[in-house]
Amino acid sequence: MTTDRTPRDKGSDVHRIFEKIAGYYDRMNFVMTLGRHARWCREVAARVAPPTAGQVLDIATGTGVIALATAQRYPAVTVTGVDFSEEMLARARTKPGAEAIRWQQADAARLPFDDESFDGITEGYLLRNVEDLPGVLGEQHRILKPGGRVVILETCPPSGPVKPVVEWGVRTIVPLLGQVVARDRSSYAYLESSTLAFESPEQVADVLRGLGFRDIGWRKRFFGTNVILWATKSS
Ligand SMILES: C[S@@+](CC[C@H](N)C(=O)[O-])C[C@H]1O[C@@H](n2cnc3c(N)ncnc32)[C@H](O)[C@@H]1O
Repeated sequence: MTTDRTPRDKGSDVHRIFEKIAGYYDRMNFVMTLGRHARWCREVAARVAPPTAGQVLDIATGTGVIALATAQRYPAVTVTGVDFSEEMLARARTKPGAEAIRWQQADAARLPFDDESFDGITEGYLLRNVEDLPGVLGEQHRILKPGGRVVILETCPPSGPVKPVVEWGVRTIVPLLGQVVARDRSSYAYLESSTLAFESPEQVADVLRGLGFRDIGWRKRFFGTNVILWATKSS
C-alpha cells in the first residue's frame, strides 16, 4: 500500500516548495487566515460524515490538520492521511492525536489504494497544485465507495465587485507575510499566483459532475478567497 514515486514537472516544483516550508507552514497558515484555517478543517471533517467505523482518506494532508479533526470527531472511523512530502508528514506525526491516524507517503495522481475502498475523502489545498485536475479527481472517484462523499477545502479566485480589492490583497499581503513571518517570499509568491490562477468552484463542480458525482455544493469563506466544496459519488 505504499508508494515512493518521484514527483515530476509541476509536481516536483510543488514538492520542493512544501518540503521547504514544512517547518513554518502551520504558523503561516494561522497568520494568513487570521486563525480560521483550523475552523474550516473542522467544517470539512463535519461535512464528510462517514458511517460509524468507516474509512476516511485525507489527501495532501500536510501537517495533518484535517485528518486530526476527522479522527477527533469520529473516534471509531479509521483515518488515513497521505501526502507526497515527507517533511510535511514528519510534522503531522508529532502532533497530539497523531497515533490514531495512518500516515503514508503517496502522490494524489496515483493513489495506492483499491477501487471503492473509502467511505469519505477530504483534502485541503491540493487541487490548485496539480497538473491534471480531472485525473486527480478521477482517482478520488475510483477509490471512493458509491454514496461516499468528497469534501474539498481550496483557495478561490476572487470574483464579483470585490475582485480588484481582494486580488490586490492576495498579491500584496501573501508574499509580504511570507517575507515577514517565514523569511521566504518566493514560496508564498507561488501561493499567490496559484490562488489567482486556479479554477472557480463552478469549474471544479463541472469536472466533478462529469466524473459521476452528484449533490455538489460549496460555500465560500473569508471574502471569497477560500471555498469548501462537497460532492457525493453516485450509487
Ligand atoms: C497547502 S498544503 C495543505 C495541507 C493541509 N491539507 C492543510 O489544509 O493544511 C498542500 C499539501 O499538498 C501536498 N501536495 C501537493 N501536491 C500533491 C500531490 N500531487 N500528491 C500528494 N500531496 C500533494 C503538499 O505536499 C502539501 O503538504
